[in-house]
Amino acid sequence: MTVTPLATNQDLDLARLREAFGAFPSGVVAVAAEVGGRLTGLAASSFTSVSLDPPLVSFSVANTSKTWPDLRRAAHLGLTVLADHHGEVCRQLAGPVEHRFDEVTVTATDDGAVTLDEGLARFDCTIYREVEAGDHTIVILRLHAVETLADDDDTSMPLVFHRSGFGRLAESA
Ligand SMILES: Cc1cc2nc3c(=O)[nH]c(=O)nc-3n(C[C@H](O)[C@H](O)[C@H](O)COP(=O)(O)O)c2cc1C
Repeated sequence: MTVTPLATNQDLDLARLREAFGAFPSGVVAVAAEVGGRLTGLAASSFTSVSLDPPLVSFSVANTSKTWPDLRRAAHLGLTVLADHHGEVCRQLAGPVEHRFDEVTVTATDDGAVTLDEGLARFDCTIYREVEAGDHTIVILRLHAVETLADDDDTSMPLVFHRSGFGRLAESA
């Protein structure tokens, strides 16, 4: 076996980093809440499950986000794992704020957590911790309620974000 050593002290420019990070496929969640009577939210592919006890998940938000300062004021946040038919909804949730929820069917709790009705999994959360991490903030969320779409539902395939595009998992044989 030939092992090529990883060149050290590379010039890690943004394009090179984006390309390398894009090699890692991920799902996408919608992070949303009702803030001051307005639906507020964004799409995030940085979602990760963190802990079972206590139940924690995380996502990273860019420090340039104009939405996060509003969203973080909500008493509760909703997270929705997007399904493979949510490609357009996902782009919408990352686009102009005034159209993020156009034609999107959502449910809001009394505490303001907003989730998409056709999501594969939905979480009701509160902010547990925010950790500064370079040009992003890692937001750790505590879960208060979860709901998962039934396995036999034929829409139960996740949206997959990979190399700046959307894909889907192949059906297993
Ligand atoms: C597939 C996809 C994944 C994204 N993931 C993240 C993410 O993990 N963190 C983040 O801060 N923004 C992410 N974004 C961008 C946000 O959805 C949103 O466009 C960005 O926060 C700018 O809007 P804002 O200024 O209203 O926050 C993603 C966008 C897309 C399309």
